[in-house]
Amino acid sequence: MSKNILVTGGAGYIGSHTVLQLLLGGYKAVVVDNLDNSSAVAIKRVKELAGEYARNLVFHRMDLRDRPALEEIFDSNKFDAVIHFAGLKAVGESVQKPLMYYNNNLIGTITLLEVMAARGCKNLVFSSSATVYGWPKVVPCTEESPINAANPYGRTKLFIEEICRDVHRSDSEWKIILLRYFNPVGAHPSGHIGEDPRGIPNNLMPFIQQVAVGRQHALTVYGSDYSTKDGTGVRDYIHIIDLADGHVAALKKLADPSIGCEVYNLGTGRGTSVLEMVAAFEKASGKKIPLVMAGRRPGDAEVVYAATEKAERELNWKAKYTIEEMCRDQWNWASKNPYGYEGCAHQNNNNSAPH
Ligand code: NAD
Ligand code: UFG
Repeated sequence: MSKNILVTGGAGYIGSHTVLQLLLGGYKAVVVDNLDNSSAVAIKRVKELAGEYARNLVFHRMDLRDRPALEEIFDSNKFDAVIHFAGLKAVGESVQKPLMYYNNNLIGTITLLEVMAARGCKNLVFSSSATVYGWPKVVPCTEESPINAANPYGRTKLFIEEICRDVHRSDSEWKIILLRYFNPVGAHPSGHIGEDPRGIPNNLMPFIQQVAVGRQHALTVYGSDYSTKDGTGVRDYIHIIDLADGHVAALKKLADPSIGCEVYNLGTGRGTSVLEMVAAFEKASGKKIPLVMAGRRPGDAEVVYAATEKAERELNWKAKYTIEEMCRDQWNWASKNPYGYEGCAHQNNNNSAPH
């Protein structure tokens, strides 16, 4: 019988791609999402891409902190595991509105864990982040590297990791996998689903994409005086489909009786600079990306990339896609959906040229 997975935040960027890979892998998925940072169109597109498997996807628009609604979903389903993506993720906003971040990310997670415990579902995969490595003194970052956080968003990830470790210590029936994502980019190769940030993007690839389609004038490069090959920051970019497949691998690992509360990096192990990423995107898209060189962004690390051996060995998973393929798929999504999921509505309401 198909395994039934509750996916919180499943309408979002990583969630929508993961739900599609789950469905194609023969899983059933129940998505709960309040659509605060996503669109119902993403769910519709996932269903289209899933073909005959679309019947295995159920969507509920609700807030994770709505305990009675969550209990009702657990009462009418038997879940084999939960993948927990739901959370707010903008670093700058978390500095401005820390209580909103602590309320959403921590209360959401605690409510979920309480309802899971009460209903006897104790298998969890949680979205942590490479942000917990801060500015690493040594790269690649291994799962044993020191962890810390430079902002409220990062602290919510650290706190939730600790909460999960405590929950497992208190009750060994829990099986928990904490996935530390590096920098997810790209889109499903069909170009039908992808990342659609609200407002001005904070992250590199969505910003480059908006320059390419004419929604922004130029990319501001934050810092060109780092001790790196070309002076710009280096990150470990991972194709969103590789990342999604990492979740399927983690779900399989939960069946291993030896698993307790375990951390895995999901990255490629390769570092790419901002200028290398721009050059790869220009090649993939045929568009020139004008640059404005600026000072460092506060809180940014110089070089961050993953040690991938633990995930390769224990999850039997390895990232496959190249930087060229990441840029190809990012551009395919961008050129088909220059204004994201709500593109048509937006363009109809806005007669002015993009700026
Ligand atoms: P996203 O914003 O696209 O997806 C998160 C989803 O959660 C959204 O659809 C949002 O509407 C939903 N959500 C938020 N709070 C909710 C609540 N209280 N109740 C119900 N739904 C809620 O973000 P993403 O990039 O897909 O990230 C998913 C997870 O991965 C997040 O926890 C994020 O912190 C983590 N993560 C993301 C990155 C990245 O670079 N994208 C890196 C590391 C970790
Ligand atoms: N950058 C620019 N210009 C921009 C945006 C980014 O030069 O407009 C540079 C940054 O300085 C950095 C690199 O591009 O050197 C990548 O920046 P991102 O903002 O895309 O990614 P970060 O690694 O800084 O952070 C992101 C999320 C974190 C998360 C981390 C790892 O914002 O929350 O990836 O997953 F923890």
